[in-house]
Amino acid sequence: TRHGYEDVFLANFASMTPENEMKMEALQPRRGEFDFKTADAMVAWAVANGKQVHGHTLVFKSQNPGWLTEATGLDKVTGKGAPYDRDELLAIMRDHVTRVMQHFAGSVRRWDVVNEALRPDGSYMPSVWHDTIGPEYVVEAYRAARAAVPDATLCYNEIGAEVPGPLADATYELVAKLKAEGLIDCVGFQMHVNGATPPARDAVQENLERFAGLGVELHVSEMDVDVSALDPAARFDGQARIFGEVAAACHAVAACTRFTTWGVTDAATWLGPDAQPLPFDASLAPKPAWAAIQRGLSL
Ligand code: XIL
Repeated sequence: TRHGYEDVFLANFASMTPENEMKMEALQPRRGEFDFKTADAMVAWAVANGKQVHGHTLVFKSQNPGWLTEATGLDKVTGKGAPYDRDELLAIMRDHVTRVMQHFAGSVRRWDVVNEALRPDGSYMPSVWHDTIGPEYVVEAYRAARAAVPDATLCYNEIGAEVPGPLADATYELVAKLKAEGLIDCVGFQMHVNGATPPARDAVQENLERFAGLGVELHVSEMDVDVSALDPAARFDGQARIFGEVAAACHAVAACTRFTTWGVTDAATWLGPDAQPLPFDASLAPKPAWAAIQRGLSL
């Protein structure tokens, strides 16, 4: 039940990340008109229960409102057909970042400013922002965020950059550039893992150590482990091992300060019922992964 889900969250977690309720389509459904109702209720509940809230996410290629991206027949290459030109889109982006951060300034201290700006090969991910503004949309988003709430903690969040490779390299370069301008404080590694192809613990730790050299905090920001391809008899032990290794890699690196799973229970996950990717089962009982995470983090 929803009540049970809330109890498990409150008893076991220190920080809440809204999964969809702070994305642009949710917060600015019509241009210039903000709808904070659902997000406000979640934040109020978390704060009343002594929990932190991690803001996710201000600028993203996905889950944008139709008014921003439709119209249009947007040509991904030339930007022709885009409803807004470069200057107008920059103004929209800055306004969104500013209004949302200032609205939540009292209670949400930490934000994913830009989410998933890069592709697996390390090049920029196409998006309405990138294709119209150019790759400098990223630094412009962080400048707006820093100006909006100067003492907020600003993160960059990426998918698939958790082990060394072209995407980790490009993420490192991007974060280094932002850090040189004093615009970034943390990097989130999402850690959506397929149990059949888990990342090696040593590779995760080596990657975290490299990023720690930039002087930013590091987060495992959205971990889940899809076990649908694993032998049913051994899948939860295999999952526990993977969660435990990533938790241990984070624990071994002093800069790694947050470990968040993308959901709580297998009853409510973006991956669907077959994935069983979370540390609590559909009846809200802890799975082997839960103890493994605690051991990995030395809790
Ligand atoms: C996902 C949500 O969990 C789903 O409910 C939604 O349909 C799509 O987005 N990386 C991210 C998250 O940064 O915002 C995504 O969340 C999962 C992948």
